[in-house]
Amino acid sequence: MDLDAILEDLVAVARQGGWIISSSVPSASGVESKKSSADLVTEIDRVVERTVFGVLRSKYPSFNLIGEESWKHGTSLDDTPTFVVDPVDGTSNYVHGLPDVCISIGLVIKRRSTIGVVYNPFHNELWTAVTGSGAFYQKGFDGERSRLPLKSNSERLSMQTACIGIEWGSDREGPNFDLNLKVFTKLASTQATGGHMVNSLRCTGSAAITICRVAAGQQDMFWECGSWIWDVAAAWCILEESGGMMVDGHPGNWIPKLDGRRYLAVRGAPGGQREIVEDFWAILGEDRST
Ligand code: IPD
Repeated sequence: MDLDAILEDLVAVARQGGWIISSSVPSASGVESKKSSADLVTEIDRVVERTVFGVLRSKYPSFNLIGEESWKHGTSLDDTPTFVVDPVDGTSNYVHGLPDVCISIGLVIKRRSTIGVVYNPFHNELWTAVTGSGAFYQKGFDGERSRLPLKSNSERLSMQTACIGIEWGSDREGPNFDLNLKVFTKLASTQATGGHMVNSLRCTGSAAITICRVAAGQQDMFWECGSWIWDVAAAWCILEESGGMMVDGHPGNWIPKLDGRRYLAVRGAPGGQREIVEDFWAILGEDRST
């Protein structure tokens, strides 16, 4: 399989979808709630998904497609190469006119994220990776492609100095919500580790963009309980190719599943990520969530 040729196709279709997003005007009448007022879908999410699926289906008829807007409960990954698409990651940002919005397209082969393309059409920022070939960032159409991480992180990771991306997500009650609340409280207070709080907590409103920022070394970690495979599939490959690591949010589980719905992304760092993952797992403790 020519992964570089597929990457080129994915970048082209991401830019096409991005153009649809950035040239549209979100209107209140086109916004619907899926399961609550915290879980939005717009006509643009659907149009972009249909457009991307149309292109990918005609070029790669033997591959499977998973998309946020057409996914049905019970559909899961098998060994067929599968494109995993979030047509608009950051839908609430899009509706409010905030520019942290992207289209995210991953290619999963044998349950591993193998190509990742994340494109923010408002800032014209593109993050890409192919397994084994490194991860890259490009600003503008003709901008230089810079290898990730952008910021060299010569310091070891520590909870005390960490800038951590967190998201409330769309589950606003139940076990996922309870766990997020507990974790955020501990991170923000002196309960984080050894009597210290973490340096900073940030909510971007797009899991894919935040994981790309972890890959870039601009944030140290990302944590969310309750996000979905389409939020993380593309950025996962970008993170790994930058030297970072994705682990499962279930303490002790070093082998994460793409559709595990509990994700802890950690940037590359001297000394590795093991120690900080264990510190984070200690905060999670035992619980009943996703
Ligand atoms: C959401 C965003 C958000 C995360 C949610 C996702 P959407 O994706 O990534 O940051 O907290 O869990 O569902 O709905 O905007 O595609």
